[in-house]
Amino acid sequence: MRGIVTIDGPSASGKSSVAQRVAKALGVPYLSSGLLYRAAALLALRAGVDLGDEEALLPLLQASRVRLLPGEENRVLAGEEDLTPHLHTPEVDRVVSQVARHPGVRSWVNARLKEVPPPFVAEGRDMGRAVFPEAPHKFYLTASPEVRARRRAKERPQDYEEVLRDLLRRDRLDQAQTQPAPGALVLDTSAMTLEEVVAWILGHLQD
Ligand code: DC
Repeated sequence: MRGIVTIDGPSASGKSSVAQRVAKALGVPYLSSGLLYRAAALLALRAGVDLGDEEALLPLLQASRVRLLPGEENRVLAGEEDLTPHLHTPEVDRVVSQVARHPGVRSWVNARLKEVPPPFVAEGRDMGRAVFPEAPHKFYLTASPEVRARRRAKERPQDYEEVLRDLLRRDRLDQAQTQPAPGALVLDTSAMTLEEVVAWILGHLQD
């Protein structure tokens, strides 16, 4: 596998776990774009800047020396600090869409992703449509909000109802950038196991 595989979809659609396993099976790194948006949100929260103020956010990101370390698992460093353990929290979940809406933040994330030489599997919302439109293999995973909330509730210190509420809110806020790329293969994973989704994608990559 020499090119780029993109796997997009809404939050908790399973795309991170699937992308990780597909990349491992192909022997290439995987890239989580969501992790970079989460890093931007964390830095903004820590600095106490107005999340709606792009002019205040961008210098903060540019000064942060953030790097994505691709691999079997992704890590995000800011200078010497590993931000990864702080990125999947309810606090970051709640504000990340607000930060990800700014065009300047999106360009900043996309520039970090484009620093990585292919081949790789890139996972996010707009990898196939906006960031790597030249990718020869594009997938888009969906699942019902209830299934996604059940999956996410296992990873968060919140109950199912609260997770579902947050998830529906984030779906609404992320809607503009969460669309299948033209030509992407779309798969509803609601009734599928992780292994079945991975096998389905690997099967299509062999075609
Ligand atoms: O995939 P995730 O839930 O970790 O993504 C975190 C947030 O980042 C999500 O609310 C939407 C945003 N995001 C985005 O706008 N574009 C991407 N390519 C990836 C994530």
